Amino acid sequence: MIGVRCDVTVEADLERLVDATVDQFGTLDVMHNNAGITGLKAGATTEDYTEAEWRRLWDINVSGVFYGSKYAIRRFKQQGAGGVILNTGSVAGMVGFGSVLYGSTKGAVNQLTKGLAVECAKDDIRVNAICPAAMPLTNFSAADDKKFEPVAQDFVDIVASIHPLGRIITAEDCAAAAVYLASDEAKNITGVLLPIDGGYVAQ
Ligand SMILES: NC(=O)c1ccc[n+]([C@@H]2O[C@H](COP(=O)([O-])OP(=O)(O)OC[C@H]3O[C@@H](n4cnc5c(N)ncnc54)[C@H](O)[C@@H]3O)[C@@H](O)[C@H]2O)c1
Repeated sequence: MIGVRCDVTVEADLERLVDATVDQFGTLDVMHNNAGITGLKAGATTEDYTEAEWRRLWDINVSGVFYGSKYAIRRFKQQGAGGVILNTGSVAGMVGFGSVLYGSTKGAVNQLTKGLAVECAKDDIRVNAICPAAMPLTNFSAADDKKFEPVAQDFVDIVASIHPLGRIITAEDCAAAAVYLASDEAKNITGVLLPIDGGYVAQ
């Protein structure tokens, strides 16, 4: 395992990340574009967000996926043996779910996923997205000064109740789906937006 400092809003960082991976391991097999932010401001609706907040949200959530995909595809094509791109979309990119601005960025991630899947299929590069619903145990919606703090059980219970299955979505749920989609077991699966949502978008 290696760690490489990478700001996904900086295109050169993604190029360096791919190069560092290849230097260390010889090939690139999978690119998981997972970084993302909510940009949420408590109680705010669309008209309360600034241009800078909008641009930052799109820079991290969408440009980061574009840059990561771009350098992964270049490398996969050089290697000539296919490859896998996995994006983290969201149910918020499929239906109205939480912040409108955040949902718009995830709609773009979902569409990048489908478009790239078709464009890259001839090179056997598969592109899929996992689309989680609400994961209250990550640091996602915590304010900066509250990150890594335990979350109150009554909040967890409320979040669980919005999913038809009545459970929260966890990082482990996403990891299991990601490992499957990245594996050869999924060799004929591309362009899929897989909800990990306890039935939320089926309603
Ligand atoms: N938590 C949820 O309810 C939820 C629901 C649907 C989708 N998602 C998506 O899941 C993914 C992972 O989020 P999470 O829930 O684990 O939250 P998280 O905040 O724990 O993880 C997000 C990660 O993105 C990183 N990041 C933020 N800006 C970055 C940048 N400019 N460059 C590099 N890294 C950066 C953060 O350091 C953090 O490690 C995100 O794409 C998010 O949109 C989360």
